[in-house]
Amino acid sequence: MVQELFQKAMKFAGEKHYRQKVPGTDANYLLHIANVAMEVMIAHSVTNDFDLEYAVQVAILHDTLEDTDTTFEELNNIFGEKIAKGVEALTKNKSLPTKRERIIDSLNRINALEKEIGIVKLADRITNLQPPPQSWEIEKRKNYLEEAKLISRMLQNKNEYLENRLKEKIEEYKNYLAVN
Ligand code: NI
Repeated sequence: MVQELFQKAMKFAGEKHYRQKVPGTDANYLLHIANVAMEVMIAHSVTNDFDLEYAVQVAILHDTLEDTDTTFEELNNIFGEKIAKGVEALTKNKSLPTKRERIIDSLNRINALEKEIGIVKLADRITNLQPPPQSWEIEKRKNYLEEAKLISRMLQNKNEYLENRLKEKIEEYKNYLAVN
């Protein structure tokens, strides 16, 4: 049942991210995780053309390798190889020199896997295109927008609903670039 799989993944993510905050806020990182899972579930309710159980577990676990002490082996043992590989593709390779190279590399690895992994990446960036923290300089906001455009360009034929939603969020985000 998707509910039990959701709860199992959420418990794991909750324990792993317990000290992490959403950048620029006092909110626990599970806020971000819950929003990404929500985007995946709503997209599935609209389009119903991907594996919800797979996508939602990867959504909940998507930042565990990048941001916590979680290992690939741990994910492999608890959630299976398919999910572990999905999360791995969503994890940036920190040995690459620039942020842009890290993103392109991750997007290439995402595109080599099932569309559900691309769906999680779309949901992640949609979630992250909420109004930026006051503390973010215009330059940082611009870079973030450029990254979002790159993601939008590189992730094709994953899920039309989320692809369109990301495009709308990109348009909206341009409002936050104006000097205020
Ligand atoms: Ni994320």
